[in-house]
Amino acid sequence: MSTSFLAHGPRVAIRRICDQDYEEITALTRASAKLHHPWVPSRAGTRAEFESYLARFEQPTHDGFVVCLRQTGEIVGGVNINNIVRGSLQSGALGYVAYASTTGRGYMAEGPDLVIRFAFADLGLHRLEANIQPANKPSVKLVERLGFRREGYSPAFQLADGFWQDHERWAITSDMVPPDSTSSR
Ligand SMILES: CC(C)(COP(=O)(O)OP(=O)(O)OC[C@H]1O[C@@H](n2cnc3c(N)ncnc32)[C@H](O)[C@@H]1OP(=O)(O)O)[C@@H](O)C(=O)NCCC(=O)NCCS
Repeated sequence: MSTSFLAHGPRVAIRRICDQDYEEITALTRASAKLHHPWVPSRAGTRAEFESYLARFEQPTHDGFVVCLRQTGEIVGGVNINNIVRGSLQSGALGYVAYASTTGRGYMAEGPDLVIRFAFADLGLHRLEANIQPANKPSVKLVERLGFRREGYSPAFQLADGFWQDHERWAITSDMVPPDSTSSR
């Protein structure tokens, strides 16, 4: 396993997103436009835009990861921890995407689980939330599989596709994560 991986499971590994990922992620994002719309904002795909996206992760409030196949290093997903609040909250908001060529294979059950464990064990976070539009069934299924609980419903929560969309609020706290013998660091 490459030393740049932070953790791995049976099939995928996670590492931080970096400048060298520009071409691969841009091509994957372009090919995934139908999968991502209208759930995540579309991006123009320029290098300048990618650099400003990466600059976000230099702030202590954001962290960005890619999910890679363990064997080849090919990127199969992305997971961000946004809006990190320290102090007495120790919380963050999880964002994630799969890519069209590798969706529906369970990689996103494995990759985000590694990020969640890393966030609790290494970043010292206590709670991660995921805010999901009710119609986004694959995303709801994913957080259910990851062990999140549904905490509530937030009307007009976030601007998406030009409208203030209602979202379901799902969250997981560190005490809800069972020990996992399949991942290692
Ligand atoms: C939400 C999203 C990340 C889920 O990705 P995904 O590829 O469906 O997730 P997984 O990799 O876990 O694949 C799950 C499917 O693989 C199947 N699968 C196949 N092999 C599997 C394996 N070995 N292990 C687990 N699941 C497996 C599962 O049964 C499941 O199928 P189902 O949905 O028919 O039940 C993806 O739909 C996406 O990128 N959506 C657009 C962006 C988005 O909505 N982001 C979140 C905003 S809140």
